[in-house]
Amino acid sequence: MSQPTLLGLSGSLRQDATNRKLLREAARLFDPAHFVEADLNLPLYDGDLEEGEGIPAAVQSLADQIAQADAVIISTPEYNKGPSGVLKNALDWVSRTQGNPWADKPVAVMSAAAGRAGGERAQMILRSFMVPFQPRILQGPEIHLANSSNEFDEHGKLASDRYEKSLHKLMQKLRAEAGF
Ligand SMILES: Cc1cc2nc3c(=O)[nH]c(=O)nc-3n(C[C@H](O)[C@H](O)[C@H](O)COP(=O)(O)O)c2cc1C
Repeated sequence: MSQPTLLGLSGSLRQDATNRKLLREAARLFDPAHFVEADLNLPLYDGDLEEGEGIPAAVQSLADQIAQADAVIISTPEYNKGPSGVLKNALDWVSRTQGNPWADKPVAVMSAAAGRAGGERAQMILRSFMVPFQPRILQGPEIHLANSSNEFDEHGKLASDRYEKSLHKLMQKLRAEAGF
């Protein structure tokens, strides 16, 4: 059987984002797979832009990546107790494309945040954002990575074994859900 394609969506755009690091560690624990990181640096959703120019190429490409992925992992930061606007904007744009690339898609969500709760509220809200798209979202184990700037070493690896076992379990469940 060929390798699955695993798509990662980081709700934080910055290169050094702990959410990006968490996705990469999740991908390592999902392996073997072809891991692709989506680019959520999209224009802000604007109905005038959509009407005048149609779906931006970067949005269509994101929707195609989701459709073609065997499984998707999403990691959100917590901004003022909610998921990032970057992530919501991406979900809104993708919902405007033809078809629904999320339908029945195996998806695992996680969060990495500075606070002690590890973005728990943001992740709960993200889960509710996904309901209209009807993906197959795993219920757990839940990963709320707290104090995120201190949880990765200089190579971007998890600095302790605090989260690794649950993340591994989540990724193995996702792999099975994707039929691999
Ligand atoms: C606008 C803003 C709001 C934030 N609000 C929260 C919050 O509600 N809870 C929390 O734990 N951290 C909060 N933080 C800190 C983020 O969790 C922290 O910046 C985190 O590292 C972002 O993820 P990243 O490393 O992937 O960029 C906030 C940061 C910003 C910029």
